[in-house]
Amino acid sequence: MKKVLSGIQPSGQLTLGNYIGAMQNFVKLQHTEECFFMVVDLHAITVAQDPAALREQTEAVAALFIAAGIDPNKANVYVQSHVRAHAELGWLMTTIANMGELERMTQFKDKSAGKDSVGAGLFVYPTLMAADILIYNADLVPVGDDQKQHLELTRDLAHRFNTRFGQYFTIPEPYIPKVGARVMSLDDASKKMSKSNPNVGSFIALLDPPDVIRKKISRATTDSGREVKYDPANKPEVSNLIGIYAHCANMTIAEVEERYDGQGYGPFKKDLAEHVVAVLEPLQERYNEIRSSGEIHHILKQGAERASIVAERTLIEVKERMGFLLPRE
Ligand code: TYM
Repeated sequence: MKKVLSGIQPSGQLTLGNYIGAMQNFVKLQHTEECFFMVVDLHAITVAQDPAALREQTEAVAALFIAAGIDPNKANVYVQSHVRAHAELGWLMTTIANMGELERMTQFKDKSAGKDSVGAGLFVYPTLMAADILIYNADLVPVGDDQKQHLELTRDLAHRFNTRFGQYFTIPEPYIPKVGARVMSLDDASKKMSKSNPNVGSFIALLDPPDVIRKKISRATTDSGREVKYDPANKPEVSNLIGIYAHCANMTIAEVEERYDGQGYGPFKKDLAEHVVAVLEPLQERYNEIRSSGEIHHILKQGAERASIVAERTLIEVKERMGFLLPRE
């Protein structure tokens, strides 16, 4: 069995981008691999968060994991800050990383662009992410395309650690969907679909009611012309919608193209909305059940306990190799 680790930030509503780019693969991998899926609250606070909203969102994202189909008896589901070793290894990894490589991270550049004051946490964000992955010696990291650069850095840090302190960390591989690795905005296919976009019509939130989903899809920008053809370079808008369709209807791109051959955008968008609703409506029902039952707290406790055993063991090994004096009886 391979070890799989991934995380999602509790910093706002989750979108269909998170679902297609990451969560669908979490659900798939849990059947065959040893999985660790967490809500990364320590990462969320690298930008200012309202404390009450952060607490609510952390619970909401955990419940969405389960609602999306993650079985807590198959995968470990927990909150990052409940496993303290993440923060500690995060600090150790910060001392392995160089300023230059952190400055090159595009996510840091995007989030800090034009700001007078940028939090130091935002700068060292990727070293904590590296710790998240390395602490379980994860083989695979299911993520969307935007996390690829952070994964590259994680691999570099693992190599550097292994060179300096002896072979220990597994070098992780990204696990990225072929289609849907970057689900784009509904209003502008040059931007990725994101919960932080101020235009709520640009993204589909996992908890959007069916009518809102229908409205957002019917208003989604489409390229000129009328052919339902997958051609990201020349028809980025329609290609994005075809990708979403293929995921939600469990079809290939070619099958979607064939079904709408000669029919224009109208029927395609109408059916697309129904496929998205068919995926999200049952997810929302399960979400509401989980939230009202309160069972998520038990799931998170159990997940953190199991994850802590693995994480603590790694931390001791790492500290020993780095030359820390460990406490003795
Ligand atoms: P976050 O919270 O921004 O996003 C969670 C996951 O969703 C994917 N994603 C998308 N995929 C396709 N299209 C989109 N429009 C889209 N938007 C988001 C992201 O690629 C991600 O996989 N740094 C991470 C969280 C993290 C992490 C980790 C991930 C912390 N520690 C360890 C993996 C391993 C992040 O901010 O994801």
